[in-house]
Amino acid sequence: MEIQKIKRVRKIIFEVSEVADYLWQRGWAERNAGNISVNINHLINDDFKIKLNDYPSYKLSKTYPALAGMYLFVTGTGKRMRDLAKDPLKNALIIKMNSEGSAYRIISQKKRGHKFLPTSELPTHLLIHNKLAESNSSNKVVIHTHTNELVALTQIREYCNEEKLNKLFFGMHPETIIFVPRGVGFVEYSMPGSEDIADKTVKVLENHDVALWEKHGVFAVGESVPDTFDMIDILAKSARIFFMCKSAGYEPEGLSETELSRLISTFL
Ligand code: 13P
Ligand code: ZN
Repeated sequence: MEIQKIKRVRKIIFEVSEVADYLWQRGWAERNAGNISVNINHLINDDFKIKLNDYPSYKLSKTYPALAGMYLFVTGTGKRMRDLAKDPLKNALIIKMNSEGSAYRIISQKKRGHKFLPTSELPTHLLIHNKLAESNSSNKVVIHTHTNELVALTQIREYCNEEKLNKLFFGMHPETIIFVPRGVGFVEYSMPGSEDIADKTVKVLENHDVALWEKHGVFAVGESVPDTFDMIDILAKSARIFFMCKSAGYEPEGLSETELSRLISTFL
């Protein structure tokens, strides 16, 4: 049985392609920008068996013990979100980690001679999933995208500050505190694709579900693909309202502490 024929995995793949289209339509996914991963291990039955030796193994530069033996869906490096939307399995992969979590095999492509590798941001995706798996979290989805409105904020030194960012996000739109109650974490500019940015991202995700990468983009973690996308979308809306007021020449007022407290006591 091929893994992509498993019904529950097919649903996830469909949701990823749907969200990939939203990312492209919003202008957040220029060329190959962004990547998505989903830990699908809980969807695979124990009786699912494949001849692992038929698929080449790739050693990782770090070990992810909590991911040992797990199956993950991950987008391919250099792949376009607009193509992922049309043909997810030609633009993404299913990998199986080895029993130590130190290597993986790409099991979704024809045996030997597969044509592309996972995203260059794999260190961050795997470190996040490792952390989530350690705590048996129900969060299985990680989305990275280059959200214009959020990147623009991190081009302003004054907003390269967690407290300042969250005050802005919560103040611009009542939905934000309801659907992104833990706010965002800020990750200072670091080399994309590096272990360094992975470490910094995982650290801020201890207290938040969304990490803002200075001058680059956003990493969000959630239970489902649509819910994870929604958090980014809501934050982008808050930032958009802020910039709209500013570009009209007005200083946005923001919700008051009392208004925010009422939202918290009513919805959270
Ligand atoms: P990949 O094409 O390797 O996924 O990279 C896109 C990206 O957004 C890097 O930060
Ligand atoms: Zn990126």
